[in-house]
Order: sequence, then structure tokens, then C-alpha cells
Amino acid sequence: MLRTARLTLTPLRAGDHDELLTLWQRPEVREFLFDGETLSAEQVTEIITGSEKDFATDKFGFWAIRETGIDRPLLGTAGLRRLDDGPDLEVVYSLDPGFQGRGLAGEAAAAVVAYGFEVLGLDRVLAEIDEGNAASIAVIERLGLRPFETVPGVLGPMIHYALTNPAHGANTA
Ligand SMILES: CC(C)(COP(=O)(O)OP(=O)(O)OC[C@H]1O[C@@H](n2cnc3c(N)ncnc32)[C@H](O)[C@@H]1OP(=O)(O)O)[C@@H](O)C(=O)NCCC(=O)NCCS
Repeated sequence: MLRTARLTLTPLRAGDHDELLTLWQRPEVREFLFDGETLSAEQVTEIITGSEKDFATDKFGFWAIRETGIDRPLLGTAGLRRLDDGPDLEVVYSLDPGFQGRGLAGEAAAAVVAYGFEVLGLDRVLAEIDEGNAASIAVIERLGLRPFETVPGVLGPMIHYALTNPAHGANTA
């Protein structure tokens, strides 16, 4: 579990399935997160199962975001996953549109990046963001990640960002 000033992040579990399906099927959320694809219930189950496996073996995966308190609804997700099956991990996040614009995604993502550096000891954390995803670019730049290359993607150009672990040296990306 990760805690921030306002949020509690818990590793995704089967009980999050229905709230997650509702969140990820919202058009504003799936546009950039899944290139507009509508995930099925089975695909959401696979993501939860994959995250549970990653946590068990590698101590990272996806967390559910809730405001701290008892029986709060799922507001979003934040997590770490392998970028293009390479050695680097990317930070990813999504938030219920009704709760956006309050800095919550940034707060959750900051906790996940800190976990990657302090607990996993990563050398760097990456992010891959569609050039048209202004809200996500604002979140990632506020976290201190910097762009280092642009690659083609399904929806158009995608920007790769990186932040070097401050304990390992300056951000040279
Ligand atoms: C990206 C996302 C998580 C941001 O959630 P959020 O709670 O609004 O994020 P925050 O409040 O922490 O920060 C939003 C920032 O984006 C800015 N922003 C929001 N909409 C914007 C827009 N259309 N154009 C430009 N900036 C925008 C806000 O001003 C804010 O900037 P600031 O931190 O400099 O003040 C949310 O939009 C989302 O779930 N999108 C769909 C999924 C997704 O794209 N995930 C990222 C995949 S890489």
C-alpha cells in the first residue's frame, strides 16, 4: 500500500474489477490509455491477474487509487509496467473524469515514481505519452520527467520521457 496526502494506493485485486471496467470503458479515459479500444471484462481480468503476478515476482504492477477513508470508490489507477517489454519501466495512470483537475493523478504518479526509485532502486523511470495528450504531458513534466525521443504510435507521434533516479546521478535523458 502507498499513502499520499489525500490518497491510498492498493495493488489491484479481483474485487476492483467492476469499478475498473467502468472507469476504463469511459471514452475520455480509454482514448489515450488504450488507443481508444474498449476493453472487455476478460481483458480487465487479465490486467488484474498480470499485475498480481508482477507484484508477486517483481514488486511492481498497478495500484487502485482511492481517497483515504473507509469504503471509498475507486477513482483511478497508477502503476509501473515494462515499456515495450524492454528493461525499463514506464509510469502509467488514469483518473475518473469527475475527479480530474485536482492534482490527484499527479499525486498518485509521484508516489509510484518514488516507489520505483526508493523501493525498487530503478536507475530511471520512463513514460510514453501521445503528443495530443496535454493533461498527461502536464502531469509527467510536473513530476520532472523530460522528453528524449519521439516515436510513431497508433494515434500519431508518441513522446518518450525519462527521469533518472536522483540517488543515482543527474537527469541526463
Ligand atoms: C492524464 C490524467 C490522469 C490527468 O488527471 P488529472 O487528475 O486531471 O491530473 P492532475 O490534476 O494531476 O494534472 C492535470 C494537469 O493537466 C492540465 N490539463 C488538464 N487538461 C488539459 C488540457 N486539455 N490541456 C492542457 N493541460 C491540461 C492541468 O492544468 C494540470 O496541469 P498542472 O499540473 O500544471 O496544473 C487524466 O486526464 C486521465 O485519466 N486521462 C485518460 C488516461 C490517460 O491519458 N492516461 C495517461 C496515459 S500516458
